[in-house]
Amino acid sequence: METVRLPRVMQETALMGKRAGKAIGFVPTMGALHEGHLSLVKAARSENDIVVASIFVNPAQFAAGEDFDRYPRTVSDDLEKLSSSGLADFVFLPEAQNIYPPGFATRVDVAGLSERMCGAFRPGHFQGVAAIVLKLLNIVQPARAYFGQKDYQQSVIIKRLVKDLNLPVEVVVCPTMREPDGLAMSSRNAYLSPRQRKAAPALYRALQAAASAMAEGRRDAGGLRALMRQALRDEPLFSAVDYISIFDAETLEELENADRNVVLLAGAARIGATRLIDNLLVNNLK
Ligand code: PAF
Repeated sequence: METVRLPRVMQETALMGKRAGKAIGFVPTMGALHEGHLSLVKAARSENDIVVASIFVNPAQFAAGEDFDRYPRTVSDDLEKLSSSGLADFVFLPEAQNIYPPGFATRVDVAGLSERMCGAFRPGHFQGVAAIVLKLLNIVQPARAYFGQKDYQQSVIIKRLVKDLNLPVEVVVCPTMREPDGLAMSSRNAYLSPRQRKAAPALYRALQAAASAMAEGRRDAGGLRALMRQALRDEPLFSAVDYISIFDAETLEELENADRNVVLLAGAARIGATRLIDNLLVNNLK
């Protein structure tokens, strides 16, 4: 496994691979790698000739007052995990000054989708994500790029970006990896104290409660929302709920009736200073 630091060198290496007829599979990450990330790298390995993972804690997707400074940075562990997995050929590990050199002025805004759900609580976040993902795709030149369903809104925004800008890449969304108690794997779980960690799966349980009610035929979004809110209120360590609701799985608009073929149950809530997100897709046709 080779570590590449300069965007120009990464792009030249990728273009050489492409010219030789190789398909590149790309897994962008912010590091602090866990099994969820490794499942993406595994999927990339199974479908491509060359696998590139990137590690870059992107300052542009953190608003002022968010956790950019304390975001876990575990680069040597991450490199060890990737290298011992034997799954990645290259790790792209750029410096911020080479990604955002002086004079960088471009904004990328996937309008509408970026303002809904988490976007309403994290202004500018998805513009920062869209810009870095577009940049990384241009540098790494992948045939396929891999994202986790845990960041469902992010994956919908990136699919829109790819479609709108005719980017020659397939966006592959892989299932959320969970701990045995249901908590979605996330680098931010490292912030949780043991008590908070124990309480954290309540978010997933709240989504599951609504999914079970839907399996029994309930479709009134108001009632389902109330049920999920109550399930979260039952866990007093959740200090604030940004949202927990039912959305159209494509437009991300909040629904009044959960009667579409596929709907998205999703929530974002805080335990102390830690913001957790999770989601479930419910297929009403099954
Ligand atoms: O999902 C993430 O880890 C980040 O948002 C991404 C896609 C690597 C962009 O910084």
